[in-house]
Amino acid sequence: MSLVHVSKHPLVAHKLTKLRSVETEPKRFRELVRELSALLAYEATADLLTRPVTVQTPMGVAQGAELVDTIGLVPILRAGLGMVEGVWELMPTAEVWHLGIYRDEKTLKPVQYYNKLPTEPRVSVCLILDPMLATGGSAIAAVDILKQWGVKRIKFVGLIGSPEGIQRLETHHPDVAIHLAAIDERLNNQGYIVPGLGDAGDRQFGTG
Ligand code: URA
Repeated sequence: MSLVHVSKHPLVAHKLTKLRSVETEPKRFRELVRELSALLAYEATADLLTRPVTVQTPMGVAQGAELVDTIGLVPILRAGLGMVEGVWELMPTAEVWHLGIYRDEKTLKPVQYYNKLPTEPRVSVCLILDPMLATGGSAIAAVDILKQWGVKRIKFVGLIGSPEGIQRLETHHPDVAIHLAAIDERLNNQGYIVPGLGDAGDRQFGTG
């Protein structure tokens, strides 16, 4: 069974279209990344575990629910940073663990340069945040690291995926659900998604 979920929400489609546009300036780009990330994380967390609780209302007692799962947000530096805030607003008790993985421009292979995960995992579910699932190399490396760390439930939340990246991530880690706003046509020979949105890091941070 495929664990690839592409949002069908009209707000996601609308905001993604604005995000892609070459006319969109970094400030608006960052706002859109934040808003899209929250919408996608909302969908990605539909299966979180809860336990029943009762709550006193001004009018009586209501049956309710409280989250049992503890959540870790794992943004991949640097483009994943812009995805944290929107998701964090929805789940403010989540822990945020940064992973620095860059793609070697020549080999297109992932290189880890920053990892401050504690020795024991303290969360039951991790959401890896990275806007572009391009070659899949960074995502696979991030899942490898989180699995070694001992996390049992891992989801990838991104904005745009390439068919190649999705297939590679699914092949290496078939248990990891992939949540995206869109799947694009292809990767070009520099490893960029086409039509995509360009460099998600440069467009957020005004670099490039
Ligand atoms: N990273 C990006 O920022 N954009 C792409 O298209 C691929 C990888």
